[in-house]
Amino acid sequence: MGSAITRHLLKTGYHVRAMSRSAEQGREAFRRWPEGRTALEEQRLTFISANVTSPETLPPAVADVDVVIQAAQFRGAPIEDPSTGNTYMDVDRNGTLNLLAAVGQVYGAATAGPDMVRYPAGAPRFMYVSGVSVVPDSPHVWVRAKWEAEEATRGSGLDYSIVRACWAFGPDDHSLNRLLGYSEILPFVPVFGRGREKITPLYVEDLGRLFARMVAEPDAARNATLPLGGPDVFTMNQMLRLGLRIMGRPQRIFHIPKPVAKLQGALLQRLRGRILTAAAVDFITQGGVTDPDPVEKCFPGF
Ligand SMILES: NC(=O)c1ccc[n+]([C@@H]2O[C@H](COP(=O)([O-])OP(=O)(O)OC[C@H]3O[C@@H](n4cnc5c(N)ncnc54)[C@H](OP(=O)(O)O)[C@@H]3O)[C@@H](O)[C@H]2O)c1
Repeated sequence: MGSAITRHLLKTGYHVRAMSRSAEQGREAFRRWPEGRTALEEQRLTFISANVTSPETLPPAVADVDVVIQAAQFRGAPIEDPSTGNTYMDVDRNGTLNLLAAVGQVYGAATAGPDMVRYPAGAPRFMYVSGVSVVPDSPHVWVRAKWEAEEATRGSGLDYSIVRACWAFGPDDHSLNRLLGYSEILPFVPVFGRGREKITPLYVEDLGRLFARMVAEPDAARNATLPLGGPDVFTMNQMLRLGLRIMGRPQRIFHIPKPVAKLQGALLQRLRGRILTAAAVDFITQGGVTDPDPVEKCFPGF
């Protein structure tokens, strides 16, 4: 998500300071892309190493910017591993709280209440990539983490925009590509559950395009929480069959019943180097269909 947003901001003419835990890895990723190389040479694209779970690293990352965009997620999501701090609460919720606190530290003028910072003119806008399934009071930890990150953003005193994105696909995605990639090594493509959940899959470049529009048109989605998905409603089965057809693969989909998958997850999460958890099975099998109207209202013709 962050790379797509960066590409579209650069295309629109902005300067971008991209943050991740390894500036060098980020730089290498963008050097592989011709426009990225040019942006690096022109110094319109710079990188900074910072960690959303280490508050002391964040002030230099957010200083002297017009917009802060939070799109960090722990490696291996949705498979949480508390032993390494790779959890939704640590990275998604606390990471967002830490970033907001860093903005408060760098730009805040005066404390307006117990938790509220008052911002002078010139403080950055804050944008957050949330998820399609986010609602209050969910039993799922990833939804609670994102809801609390959203609430902190809405209550921060900064101008904000939140995008609740649907399942995204694109050349670098680690999810759909992995599933379809099984067709190269297996006689079937394994899927948890019945594959009948409805989704509106989102082309990642459309998310990048929306963020570039939000940055360029500050009034259009000021203090809005917008759902964003693709134009078509698919079931997971339909999406996979379409992918297999495009790849010219004859494989069938093999459904692993969800209770069996959750049992596998419950066992595997006890091993080191977790490759599955029961909660990740719930995450993977969640549906999510978005309403296009709110985006259309803010950005007619988007
Ligand atoms: N992908 C989807 O289909 C989808 C759908 C809906 C919502 N979202 C949301 O969109 C956001 C981005 O997801 P994504 O799919 O783009 O994830 P991703 O491909 O895994 O990218 C996450 C980025 O965060 C960085 N990162 C990880 N831990 C960090 C830390 N502690 N401090 C700073 N940076 C850190 C990673 O770089 P390093 O590891 O090098 O630091 C990487 O650049 C997440 O909030 C996710 O929940 C994604």
